[in-house]
Amino acid sequence: TIEGIVAREILDSRGNPTVEVEIGLDDGTVARAAVPSGASTGAFEAIELRDGDADRYLGKGVEKAVQNIEDRIVDQLIGYEASEQRLIDQKMLDIDGTDSKSELGANAILGVSLAVAKAAASSAELSLFRYLGGPNAHLLPVPMMNILNGGAHADSNVDVQEFMIAPIGAPSFREALRSGVEVYHALKAVLKKKGLSTGLGDEGGFAPNLPTNSAALDLIAEAVEKAGYTLGSDIALALDVAATEFCSNGTYTFEGSALSAEEMTNYYTKLVGDYPIVSIEDPLSEDDWSGWTALTAALGDRIQIVGDDLFVTNPQRVARGIAESAANAVLVKVNQIGSLTETFDAVDLAHRAGFRCMMSHRSGETEDTTIADLAVATGCGQIKTGAPARSERVAKYNQLLRIEEELADAARYAGAGAFPRYRS
Ligand code: PGA
Ligand code: ZN
Repeated sequence: TIEGIVAREILDSRGNPTVEVEIGLDDGTVARAAVPSGASTGAFEAIELRDGDADRYLGKGVEKAVQNIEDRIVDQLIGYEASEQRLIDQKMLDIDGTDSKSELGANAILGVSLAVAKAAASSAELSLFRYLGGPNAHLLPVPMMNILNGGAHADSNVDVQEFMIAPIGAPSFREALRSGVEVYHALKAVLKKKGLSTGLGDEGGFAPNLPTNSAALDLIAEAVEKAGYTLGSDIALALDVAATEFCSNGTYTFEGSALSAEEMTNYYTKLVGDYPIVSIEDPLSEDDWSGWTALTAALGDRIQIVGDDLFVTNPQRVARGIAESAANAVLVKVNQIGSLTETFDAVDLAHRAGFRCMMSHRSGETEDTTIADLAVATGCGQIKTGAPARSERVAKYNQLLRIEEELADAARYAGAGAFPRYRS
């Protein structure tokens, strides 16, 4: 039974304030959760409440969200069983009363929602992934490691936001992580040798200036080989283009040219022919529904097309995407929708329609590792949580190592099976 809730303002990995929540139960259990924050956010995301007081943290303080928890949520939740996740989340949605969660703030609601789940798991003496996923949770996700950062996450001239490696050939999560780390270090050596910057972007990947976007793929291909792996069978490639960031009025400003959705699609078709790419996220902008449908018709039988800004983990938008065949996978970010219940609803909806899901961090993260457990609990088979460097990213990968150890012989690594459309 929930006995007390405390909220506070802490810092995220970019040095911006975010919400942390602690929940105490009457059996002595205490659990804590922290809320992540994006930079290339979708226009349709739930509202992250910020104070706007220019005298504190450049207006980015979250004291109002903290206050909302203490003044408007705590009293309403005392006495609930922590296991009543759906009732608790619904209660907070009712108190908020808006579609966008602008009244309480999605950051306020999510902090409580995640802390409730962690408290319930702890009280039941279960790991979070077992509590949320039940006795059948056993699938370890492919770590989609973002080793070269561009777009809004870097100061470089590279348009594509994320260049990821997917270690699909490994036999276990532990070995997958190791191969990814080895490629990451090899990439650093390759960049150094070419006199390119080895400074890092927001998600821990390198952020050099490059002549083209495909030059990034060539550098990664070189690093894969240097690390002793085979591109395509051991390590596949994936992109998050985050195209909303460079689209205006239906025109994409890409590599210095003004391109249509169709021209972007032709570019991706060429890229998929030239490189072993298993997944492309946000290839087009968040409101270009017809462009997405055409692109999925052109490429969807060969690779995974992932909607991030397009879907914002919102069951209503996912439902539209399914109806219009606008993608074949959903990026899942708990703070885009703002509650655990709605996150599960989005995943269930996607899975029932044969869409894949990729659990995801935000570019602004904390030491909270809930998404690692969520990836295993939902059996989604894929997680992206940045480069295998910087503690807020590595924390999630480390949690997956612990989960794999706990599952022991019951653990299965998703591997190439996470991308059934891909043929190496
Ligand atoms: P964000 O980026 O957290 O800055 O939104 C991550 C992504 O686009 O997937
Ligand atoms: Zn994205």
